[in-house]
Amino acid sequence: MLNVENIRKDFPMLKQTMQNHPLIYFDNGATTLKPQSVIDAVVHYYTHLSTNAHRGDYDLSFKVDHEFEEARQVVADFLHAQQKEIVFTSGASESLNLVAYGYGRKFLKSGDVVLTTEAEHASTMLPWMRTCEETGAKLNYIPLDEEGRVTLDNIRKVITKKVKVIALAQVTNVLGFEVPIKEICSLAHTLGAIVVVDGAQSVPHIPIDVQDLDCDFLAFSAHKCCGPTGVGVLYGKYELLDRMDSFLLGGGSNARYDMCGNILLKNPPHKFESGTPAIEAVIGMKAALLYLMNIGMENIHRYEQELHQYIISALEKMDHIILYNKNCEAGIITFNVKDVFAQDAATYFNTNGIAVRSGQHCAKLLLDRLNTSATIRASIYFYNTKEEADRFIEVCRSASMETCLDVFF
Ligand SMILES: Cc1ncc(COP(=O)(O)O)c(C=O)c1O
Repeated sequence: MLNVENIRKDFPMLKQTMQNHPLIYFDNGATTLKPQSVIDAVVHYYTHLSTNAHRGDYDLSFKVDHEFEEARQVVADFLHAQQKEIVFTSGASESLNLVAYGYGRKFLKSGDVVLTTEAEHASTMLPWMRTCEETGAKLNYIPLDEEGRVTLDNIRKVITKKVKVIALAQVTNVLGFEVPIKEICSLAHTLGAIVVVDGAQSVPHIPIDVQDLDCDFLAFSAHKCCGPTGVGVLYGKYELLDRMDSFLLGGGSNARYDMCGNILLKNPPHKFESGTPAIEAVIGMKAALLYLMNIGMENIHRYEQELHQYIISALEKMDHIILYNKNCEAGIITFNVKDVFAQDAATYFNTNGIAVRSGQHCAKLLLDRLNTSATIRASIYFYNTKEEADRFIEVCRSASMETCLDVFF
């Protein structure tokens, strides 16, 4: 059981108001709020450490090195990986690009196939589109079922020996369906394909064990897990990290180079970490993951599912609310108010103190399928309460063409 009232005291942002209402933050799919321990960790770095990582020969710098590598170990523990399999990046987008460029460009060739789905975020889709164009590989789409889910059966229909990469999200960011990653990895590996998991919407919400999933790569961003912006992670099996290219070269990642152009890179993960990293964000991410582990990922997941179900049961009964994903496993509610443009409805929610997102949610191919030009996405996290859910339900009930357009006059 979560003690949400106590948890909420850890988040200074939850004391804010919006439009003279207590803030109800239901945009956690975009980014999450930060607990005081994360803010303190970032401030601690700037107040007491403030030096570069892996570069200095003095006490302060050694302390930073220690904190930085300790953060890597915390990420490894969080994912059940090895420390040397954790690459720090600027976020999920960079992690996913790194695999497409560093692995895809090196190993794909004409005739190979990459499988993805229409439900993917642009940060999965676009790097593979570009990599396929450059290598001559083909990008094929796994058909979604009627609800918009990725199923193992549908993967079986399109997978062949030509498939070398399957790139997809563990939880999709618009419909919030959980994808059977473990089974997909098992199937892919029998045919020699690798699986690149976009964990941006799963890692913050469900327990992850990369060894159990047996995925080849997994990407996520700290800012969606109560951590700072500007830092993320690429987990990769060590043997794959070792074989693939780095796409960013520079200081910190090389062991030596000479005037003939011979470059010897360090071993993973350091060969991928050129340039000064976001040190304070890495240290803040460590605090965020420790915070989540202390609450327990199972507890977080269970609580979100209950709150989600509570909201869905109420919205289902409203004829004027079009729900696109009522059976999803994540805390994502994607909907529209009948006859109201999504952005106008989001503005109505704003005037009632509720932050939701409207638009295409970086998954432009999915909208054709949903037969709409935009949707509203409310996404919850473990610090949201039943009282906030009640207020959200009440505002959904009162939303109509008249009330939503009234806001503009
Ligand atoms: C499923 C998914 N993948 C990737 C990303 C990209 O994350 P970031 O912007 O932190 O790089 C997001 C962000 O919304 C996402 O929802």
